[in-house]
Amino acid sequence: MLIDRIKQIARDIHPLVIARRRHLHAHPELSFQEKETSAYIKKQLSEMGIPWQPVADNGVVALIRGGKLSDRVVALRADIDALPIHEQNAVEYRSTCTGVMHACGHDAHTASLLGTAHILQALREEFGGTVKLIFQPGEEKLPGGASLMIREGVLENPRPEGIIGQHCAPALEAGKIAVRPGKFMASMDELQVWVRGKGGHAAQPHQNIDPVVIAAHIIVALQQIVSRQANPTHPSVLSFGRVIADGAINVIPDEVHLEGTLRTMDEAWRAKAHEQMVKMASGIAESMGGSCEFRIVKGYPYLLNNEALTSKIRRYAESYLGEDQVVEADLWMAAEDFAYYTQATSGCFYLLGTGNSARGINSALHSPTFDIDESALEISTGLMAFMALKELGY
Ligand code: NI
Repeated sequence: MLIDRIKQIARDIHPLVIARRRHLHAHPELSFQEKETSAYIKKQLSEMGIPWQPVADNGVVALIRGGKLSDRVVALRADIDALPIHEQNAVEYRSTCTGVMHACGHDAHTASLLGTAHILQALREEFGGTVKLIFQPGEEKLPGGASLMIREGVLENPRPEGIIGQHCAPALEAGKIAVRPGKFMASMDELQVWVRGKGGHAAQPHQNIDPVVIAAHIIVALQQIVSRQANPTHPSVLSFGRVIADGAINVIPDEVHLEGTLRTMDEAWRAKAHEQMVKMASGIAESMGGSCEFRIVKGYPYLLNNEALTSKIRRYAESYLGEDQVVEADLWMAAEDFAYYTQATSGCFYLLGTGNSARGINSALHSPTFDIDESALEISTGLMAFMALKELGY
């Protein structure tokens, strides 16, 4: 049975996958600076005898061609970058790079895909078609490594019929995966706002135009974009996480700077929300005697899981893990540049359970205590190999 053979290899290489994940975890690199990580991936692929090519600087694309005749192609993707977070885990494989940490599990995604490569390479004489392995830099930073790799042709020569990706999910117990067909993750835009007034002595507000009060009105009013203008059936989030006034106890500043994010799952509404936010903020600032410069940096689109591919992925996972280990994922308002692949071809992005509540492994993604239950790496490697082979018609 294919499943049993894959599970056996996944079990055999599990210590190796853990070792690779720990190496990557100890040596994290920020988005678009993944030189060593990229070199490490290339070295591992070469040692396995898998040909690779660099794409978009630190990106790597590798091909495993089956020994039987078939022109089917499936792509598997892992992201490789880390975050500007200072690790607080006291583990032997903790980050050796001050202020940089694999706090989003991309070390696990990368080690897992290398493990999947190992399995596929071992079985290559038996299947037909091609598996394209995509190791992608810069997931955490705009414009997103996915958009750059696609622009440089990662989805051509050969063109995959579908692409599969996974993400660590600490809230889901190791052993399970979560899948959701259709819209799954949000679009993300960065908002930069400068509210300008006229600074001066805090004791003489009548001689100033107070940008702090204007900014406060803008922040509160903009919540109506979500609560009054968005269709309630379209999820939307608007959050400002950075508000810099930089005056003093007795000084009204000239300017207040706001930074925030807009997330939603509908492109038409996204465009309309941009317009409405600018209009509302400018109107408020002007009505209070100030002005407002509103800059929107468009981020990733929403992530759409192809219905047909996703229902197959769910079935493969149920065969591999057992039906009770596969659950429906909730909508997730985080953004992922995997979304770009789902616009260019059929994609399925699913969640890999990496939590272990009994062992206290449940810190959130992007937190300084994030870690995974490494037993998940045995599942992730084999499962993805199984999915790829099923998609090739094995
Ligand atoms: Ni991530």
